[in-house]
Amino acid sequence: MLRDVVTGDLPMYRRLLCNPMTMAQLGGPLDPDDMPAKVGRDVRDVLLDRAWILTIVPDGRHPAERAGSVVLWRQTDGGTTHSELGWMVLPEYQRRGLATAALRSLVERADADGRWGDLHAFPGVTNAASNALCRRLGFDLVGTTVVRYADRDLAVHHWRRPALAAAQRSRRTRSGSSPG
Ligand SMILES: CC(C)(COP(=O)(O)OP(=O)(O)OC[C@H]1O[C@@H](n2cnc3c(N)ncnc32)[C@H](O)[C@@H]1OP(=O)(O)O)[C@@H](O)C(=O)NCCC(=O)NCCS
Repeated sequence: MLRDVVTGDLPMYRRLLCNPMTMAQLGGPLDPDDMPAKVGRDVRDVLLDRAWILTIVPDGRHPAERAGSVVLWRQTDGGTTHSELGWMVLPEYQRRGLATAALRSLVERADADGRWGDLHAFPGVTNAASNALCRRLGFDLVGTTVVRYADRDLAVHHWRRPALAAAQRSRRTRSGSSPG
């Protein structure tokens, strides 16, 4: 199950973003003191509908349990803007298919919403799990590039999922609304 981020997710942010293990492919851990401001910005972006920042709840019967997060936002880079996906799962929940299920659900929502266009992802070139995830979800490998993340340069693979399903969705809507 996915739900919007809330300020109460701060401990999970610290465990995800300030952890040498989960941040190994992202240039190393972030400063725990920066996390309250980051959660605050994320909650605000969700309230303003500028980004989808979703916490993964592994079992709906235990809504207080948190396994990680998946994110979709508009990223501006060198004068152009694209829709970008990100994901993180706490170590004790990894390798259970949670990231795959959460991302699949997020991509389906993006298709249904229709505003996001092509979806892009930029996992580190040595990030085996994240590159497997992109492949599994049917993203196309565009190439290799360098991105700036949290004041560090990362060598990444660029994956893209064309917004084909959105076009199919609008075709379906048109044919569904015709009187026949
Ligand atoms: C990437 C990450 C979210 C995957 O989460 P997860 O819930 O364990 O992923 P899943 O169980 O859904 O597995 C996804 C794929 O990754 C593979 N995988 C998972 N962990 C792996 C590992 N340590 N090494 C190699 N492959 C791995 C799985 O086999 C699966 O591939 P498949 O579909 O071809 O079988 C998790 O490893 C993580 O949080 N990493 C640190 C944060 C990070 O690097 N985020 C990415 C930023 S772009």
